[in-house]
Amino acid sequence: MDFLDPKLSDYSEQLTSPETDLLARLNRDTYANVLIPRMLSGHMQGRILSMFSKMTRPKTIVEVGTYTGYSALCLAEGLQPGGRLITMDINEELETRIRRYFDESPYAGQMELIIGNALEILPGIEGEIDLAFIDADKETYAAYYDIIMDKMPSGGIIIADNVLWSGKVLDAGEIERDEETRALYEFSKKVHNDDRVENILMPVRDGLMIARKK
Ligand SMILES: C[S@@+](CC[C@H](N)C(=O)[O-])C[C@H]1O[C@@H](n2cnc3c(N)ncnc32)[C@H](O)[C@@H]1O
Repeated sequence: MDFLDPKLSDYSEQLTSPETDLLARLNRDTYANVLIPRMLSGHMQGRILSMFSKMTRPKTIVEVGTYTGYSALCLAEGLQPGGRLITMDINEELETRIRRYFDESPYAGQMELIIGNALEILPGIEGEIDLAFIDADKETYAAYYDIIMDKMPSGGIIIADNVLWSGKVLDAGEIERDEETRALYEFSKKVHNDDRVENILMPVRDGLMIARKK
């Protein structure tokens, strides 16, 4: 579902900083060779993630749901010198492609990929998490959010993708019968009612929930 008129969307992309060559190649490669390429963040959302990262200058970034690595490469652009990005994905078939692109990035030495179930990996991450991007199985967003929030300092930011879910979160029938829609609907309410954060539901692409720890 396009929330924005495609012409306005094109216009906005044209007047947004371009993708790097590496990101453009990964974008094309994913669309040509990987299943469900629309999962990739893409040009506009990728620049937004990069901008958030550059504005917050995180020491530690955690991403839940790497897919082919596009969003991780964007988030890494704002890392502090000596900072690290940890990204995780349960699908081992993606690993070779992700590592190939990470190796070409100027942030290669700062990016760690862990293949496995995020719910099992996240509790073991040591130290504080300054910036997190949640973009994996929708039913587990709330659990990821709570684990990450407990590891965040004041000022830490969690960004969660797909909270508008193609508009299905407005449909009471979908909320009742579809588990993913219900989970995303409940997740947005949970964040909005969480006294630990201030939040914005940004109607960008499929909806980005931004929560900043007070
Ligand atoms: C929407 S894609 C991520 C897109 C990526 N962040 C980007 O913007 O290019 C979701 C990914 O989450 C992964 N995933 C699903 N369940 C997971 C879990 N329990 N633990 C880790 N990764 C999971 C999937 O394998 C898939 O690659």
